[in-house]
Formats: sequence, structure tokens, C-alpha cells
Amino acid sequence: MSKRWYQENKRDPWRRQAKSKGYRARSAYKLLQIQEKFRIIKKGNNILDIGCHPGGWTQVSVELVEDTGKVIGVDLLMTSSIDGAEIIMGDITESSTIERISEIMENNEFDVVISDISPRLTGRYDTDQAISLELSTMSLDTAFNQLKVGGNFITKIFQGRGVEGLVESAKRRFKNVNRYTPTASRTASSETYLICQNRLLNPRKGSGNSAIEEVKIHLENIGIITENGMNAEDETVVGFRKYKKGKNG
Ligand SMILES: C[S@@+](CC[C@H](N)C(=O)[O-])C[C@H]1O[C@@H](n2cnc3c(N)ncnc32)[C@H](O)[C@@H]1O
Repeated sequence: MSKRWYQENKRDPWRRQAKSKGYRARSAYKLLQIQEKFRIIKKGNNILDIGCHPGGWTQVSVELVEDTGKVIGVDLLMTSSIDGAEIIMGDITESSTIERISEIMENNEFDVVISDISPRLTGRYDTDQAISLELSTMSLDTAFNQLKVGGNFITKIFQGRGVEGLVESAKRRFKNVNRYTPTASRTASSETYLICQNRLLNPRKGSGNSAIEEVKIHLENIGIITENGMNAEDETVVGFRKYKKGKNG
């Protein structure tokens, strides 16, 4: 074993535990802790796992549904097979991926959609957070379209500007929405999870056509997205399109 591997394992009990239990990622414990607190997944549920690579959450889902429900994992990256789950390699924002999911489900709905989706990090916090906000909002739209009434949804969010817009959109679509940070999340990380329970039949009155549309309006209202009136040199394109330079770097 390399010295670095040994030091990281010594420092990170979740990584050590994941390895000893055969989970592919330490993040498996984040889902287990969410499950312990909110009882999101039940035996026999159909689960869609968005951003499933390398497969920790998919492994936990298969265990929780006890082989009686369907578990589908989707990721841009190739994920090696997991007994009891169907894995799709694809982009969740593309209609061909959604069609593939529907084919496997034979038009049945999901009980639970879980999304640990996260972009390939650039290291610039504002950029990464903006892209992550867009991906999580897209996951919310996908979840709303795929879930049965009363279904549950979990998504990762990175704290930062615009997140309140996403929380509001979630509250328009689910009866109960809570933020929760599992202890397995790294202390230095700004990640947290939005736990959305009980999908409503329809979005509440006053909602837009999609969460993406609502979050875009929220970003415009708080002065983050500028549709026009800005000098092109003052703008940069990331995540939710045009970001004003300056405060964002
Ligand atoms: C933090 S990892 C997920 C870890 C996983 N929950 C586990 O326990 O093994 C986030 C994943 O989101 C995936 N991802 C990012 N954008 C995506 C997209 N548009 N469609 C599908 N997956 C995406 C990334 O490829 C990455 O593997």
C-alpha cells in the first residue's frame, strides 16, 4: 500500500468502513445516514440513482429494497455492474437517457429518486457551485416527472448563491423538504442534501413550467443572471449561463 493510501485511510474512518463492507465509495454511508434519519427507501421500492458512479448508493439501494424493487443507476461514466441493479451509461439531461429509463421501467413510476450528482470540479468554487446548482435543479425536474405521487427525492447541493431558489422549487413540488448533512460528509465540504418527501400531485399554485425556469428567475431576481444590459466583457458563461464577473471572480 502507498504511504498516501495508508494516511488517508487512517484519517478517514468512512473510507475504511466502506472498504471493509465492500462498498465502492465512502459516500454509501451518506445515504445510509439519510436513510436512518428519514426512512426514504422501503422494501420493494423502485429507485432511480442519478449520478451513480462508482456505485455506492446503488449498492445501498439494492440492499434496502431487498431484491424486490427495481434499481436503476445512471451516470456519464461507465459503472461496473451491480447485482440486482440495471446500470445505464448516459447523460441524465438528455432525452435519449430518459427514454432508456422508461423502456426499462416499462412506463412504471419510481418510488424514490436519489441524486448525488456533481460536476467534474474545476476548483473554482463559484463555477463549481453554479454548475452543481443547475445539475441538481435538472435532477429535481427529472425526479418530479419520474416519481409517483407520494414519492421521495434526495439531491446533493453545494451551499451558495441561488440555492434558496432550488429549495423553493422543491417546496412547490413536495410536501416536506428538509436540509440534512450526514456526518459522513467531509467536515470541510459545503455539501448538504435536500430531502424531499411526498411528491405532490401537481406543483403548487404560482409555479413555473419547470424548476429550471423558476431557479433562473430567482437568479435574475437576486442579480446573478443578467439577460441583457451588461457589457459582454463583464460576463462569463458557467452553469446557469451568464454570471456577472466581479464578485464571482
Ligand atoms: C459524487 S459522484 C456519485 C457517487 C455515488 N453516489 C456513489 O455512491 O458511488 C457524482 C457523479 O455524478 C455524475 N454526473 C455528473 N453529471 C452527470 C450527468 N449530466 N448525467 C449523469 N451523471 C452525471 C458524475 O459522473 C459522477 O460520477
